[in-house]
Order: sequence, then structure tokens, then C-alpha cells
Amino acid sequence: MSATAGGVDEPRRSPLDAICSDVDAYYSACVARHGATPRGVDWSCEATQGLRFVQLMKLCDGSEPFSLNDIGCGYGALVPFLAARFASCEIDYLGIDLSRAMISRARRRFAGPQRRFVVASESPRVADYSVASGIMNVNVGYAREAWEDYVKAMLERMFATSRRGFAVNFMRTVPDQEPESDPAARRLYRTTPDVWAAHCEQAFAAQVEVLGNYGMKEFTLLVRRTPPASSSH
Ligand SMILES: C[S@@+](CC[C@H](N)C(=O)[O-])C[C@H]1O[C@@H](n2cnc3c(N)ncnc32)[C@H](O)[C@@H]1O
Repeated sequence: MSATAGGVDEPRRSPLDAICSDVDAYYSACVARHGATPRGVDWSCEATQGLRFVQLMKLCDGSEPFSLNDIGCGYGALVPFLAARFASCEIDYLGIDLSRAMISRARRRFAGPQRRFVVASESPRVADYSVASGIMNVNVGYAREAWEDYVKAMLERMFATSRRGFAVNFMRTVPDQEPESDPAARRLYRTTPDVWAAHCEQAFAAQVEVLGNYGMKEFTLLVRRTPPASSSH
């Protein structure tokens, strides 16, 4: 399909591509402004950025080597976290981000053997695990329904490229909260754990663990593939 703009035929973007392009513009502007720092990926500080990593990495069995896709890796902050917290474990790491500005900063700081980075909105490979911190939060002005279609597509991609499971975090709906008057706050997607836990259980026939008590208005889902039933011989 094509659309005519200024007399030139251009391929029409899918709704998903349009969202990815707006997300890219948002975060690329963020890192241009604040650099390779927590503020540069729209987090308030390093302590809470690390606390999110602690939750997500509860998915992974560190007693043996594994491969890991980090979807929305930003400037690569998970890499030094893994070096500190999983020092004795061999991890084949791939950072994926749709922002070229993020990936060039990540490469400059952290690229090395078993630490690669690519510009993409989905992983080009299947890994043992995938984690995603912060990719569902800023809806860049899209209506709830369109954003939730995007969330479903991202979950589907993570499931398809994770051999053992994936982990992802969301901002939590605050009960009895007044409608947001601040336009920046209105661009935040907030939800409840039951909705997305049930979705992952049904769509992927997966085992879902909800982590909600880590002192933030957020929650993390650990989504584990159900092992195939062993045959009874
Ligand atoms: C809130 S920042 C968090 C960065 C990093 N995970 C961290 O915690 O330091 C979200 C990042 O995800 C990237 N991102 C958002 N949606 C994405 C998608 N669908 N595919 C790849 N990257 C995405 C953004 O460009 C941004 O760098």
C-alpha cells in the first residue's frame, strides 16, 4: 500500500511502526538532553533504575551460563549491573533499542565480547531470557487502546524470542487518583498487574509471577514458559 505525499508515493507505515518512530523521537531527545545517565532514559535516579533491574533479573537462573536480550537497553546501564551482580556467571548479552542515539552511546561505553548492541524494535535472535525495563511506560500521546495493542505486540515479540521466559515492568494504576492535569503525566501508561498477568497466562500458556512489593508504584511480571509435558514411557 502507498500514500501520496507531495506527489511522491511513500510506503504507508503500520500503526506499530508509527508508534515506534514516535517512541524513538521521544527517547532520542531525552538522551540528547541528559546524556548517558538515568535522566537520559527518563528515570529519576540510579538507585531506582537498579531496583528495577533487581526485579527483572529474578527471572534468570545465574547458576549456569545463559543468553539475554535486553529490550529497550538505553545506553546499556544493565551491563555494569550484571558485571557486579552476576560476576561469576557467563552471560551472552544483546542490547536492543530502537533509538540509534542510545545504541551509539551504549556501544561506546560497553561493547565487547558477548556484549553486543543493535538498533531494532525487536530482537533479531532467540535468547534464553529477555528483559525489558521501561518500554511500556510513555505512551507518547497515543490513546489507551492503541497503546495496549502496542503492548500486546511487544509482549508477543518477547515471548517469541525467549527460550525460557521474559520479564517486563509496568507503572501501576494509583487507586482513587484524580485525572492527571499535567500533560507529561497524561502520557504515562498505568495499569494493574492482573490485566497483563492474565493476558500472558492466556496468550502464551505461561506461568506468570507478579512482583509488586518493592517500594515503587510499579510492578514486574516474570513470565516463564511452561516446560513441555514429559512423555510417559
Ligand atoms: C525508560 S528507558 C529505559 C532504558 C533501560 N532499560 C534502563 O532501564 O536503563 C526505555 C528505553 O527503551 C527504548 N524502547 C522503547 N520501546 C522500545 C521498543 N519497542 N524496542 C526497542 N527499544 C525500545 C527507548 O528508546 C529507551 O531507550
